[in-house]
Amino acid sequence: MTDSTPHARPHMTRNEGVIFERSSPDKAGADLPPLDVAPVQAERALGDLYRADIEDFPEVSELDVIRHFTRLSTWNYSIDAGVYPLGSCTMKYNPRLNETVSRFKGLGTEHPYTPEDLAQGCLKALADTQRALLEITGMDAITLQPAAGAQGELTGLLMIRACLEERGDPRRYVLIPDSAHGTNPASVTISGYEVRNLKSDRRGCVDLAALEREMTGEVAGLMLTNPNTLGIFEAEIRRIVEVVHGKGGLVYMDGANMNALVGVARPGDFGLDVMHLNLHKTFSTPHGGGGPGSGPVAVKRHLDPYLPSPTVEETPDGGGRLNYERPRSVGRVRAFYGNFGMAVRALAYILAYGPAGLRQATEDAVLNANYIKTRIRDAYDLPYDAPSLHECVFSDRRQAARGVRTGDIAKRLIDYGFHPYTVSFPLIVPGALMIEPTESADKAELDAFIEALRSIAREVEENPDIVLRAPHSTRVSRLDEAAAARKPMVRWKPPA
Ligand SMILES: Cc1ncc(COP(=O)(O)O)c(C=O)c1O
Repeated sequence: MTDSTPHARPHMTRNEGVIFERSSPDKAGADLPPLDVAPVQAERALGDLYRADIEDFPEVSELDVIRHFTRLSTWNYSIDAGVYPLGSCTMKYNPRLNETVSRFKGLGTEHPYTPEDLAQGCLKALADTQRALLEITGMDAITLQPAAGAQGELTGLLMIRACLEERGDPRRYVLIPDSAHGTNPASVTISGYEVRNLKSDRRGCVDLAALEREMTGEVAGLMLTNPNTLGIFEAEIRRIVEVVHGKGGLVYMDGANMNALVGVARPGDFGLDVMHLNLHKTFSTPHGGGGPGSGPVAVKRHLDPYLPSPTVEETPDGGGRLNYERPRSVGRVRAFYGNFGMAVRALAYILAYGPAGLRQATEDAVLNANYIKTRIRDAYDLPYDAPSLHECVFSDRRQAARGVRTGDIAKRLIDYGFHPYTVSFPLIVPGALMIEPTESADKAELDAFIEALRSIAREVEENPDIVLRAPHSTRVSRLDEAAAARKPMVRWKPPA
């Protein structure tokens, strides 16, 4: 450390090698009983698979293994360690209750091929999740199949395509505002449409005049994130929907930011046609390495026939059934019924909170983001000063004058013990700092985070070098990030 940063959490040891480097000949983690098959017999039975020895396999004790991996695990920042303010990612706490429920016998242990009449509990859990999500969104029908938000986007676009083609009105383009998440244009392209960019207005919202100009008979629809990636609610949403519908198009809402709306506003009431949800964001199921995702797609009645097959339907006796008789469906998008465990976790979260609790979570998420925004706006540039919801986006314009960019500030935050915010996104804000605290942070933690950002802003004024060379508290400081992404070396080799 080259400074006296108050909150730094240095690693227990900064000299941890890889497990291969701890190896020494004949050290073992367990004593296996002597082989009761003659090596020659084993060789004959296993053929090419036989190995007398595994080259470079680490020979280590149980204690070596436990301590090595336990130490490594402390190098990771996690949602269980502290606030994780990645804007647009909604990194909220994943309650342990979700995990307990998802492991219940009969939910955690059922095989996906279990016959329907023996899997009634699981089908009911899926049907209950669907009903809850429909109530929250105000939509009419839903699929839980897609495994991520991006896959939900593709599924929704395929439904739009199927619907328009059936109407005998195939179209070529989909409009996407310039503030959109990168997955939106990617999904449009994969679904066979072409992207047309829609400029945002000075408030960071859809420019209605531009929409009216661009929305022609060649445009299949609009893909809109609401609240958008600036954390701003598209207040003209009803008019936007009217313009698109008026020209025969459909409206897709990217509902990844539903953490700002649950219990307060229902997208179905805005008049849109199709939307996705990210259970791994809004409904507290784990992200990425912590578990697979889930991106349910909800539609209005007219798109119901195109939902992926099979759909899960409630039976009059309170059970559930799988309906494969869906001739107009876009087909299956995921094995079985999607990531079942994620639906169960989301359902546990929804039922544990109840309607009032879900609304409270939304209000707290919005309050937290606005608290941060208000407390750092004198230290950082705020390019779009509109009322914001669950996240706030600053720019590094003031710090850039001293040669410090958003990535440097993010690296310095690590020295203060915080995970960085989202860097350089959305693209319409040059040098963006995108901050989403979620409802999971309490005031003490928000205050510590705010104080860290304010302190870094002071450092930029007084000693920019300390920020430019950050982080100082980690085992390695600045990595060649482009090389790490483009030429990853994921296999250890002994030094030559
Ligand atoms: C606004 C928005 N749309 C779409 C996505 C894509 O979701 P996923 O990462 O689950 O594919 C995200 C992910 O963070 C998002 O923030």
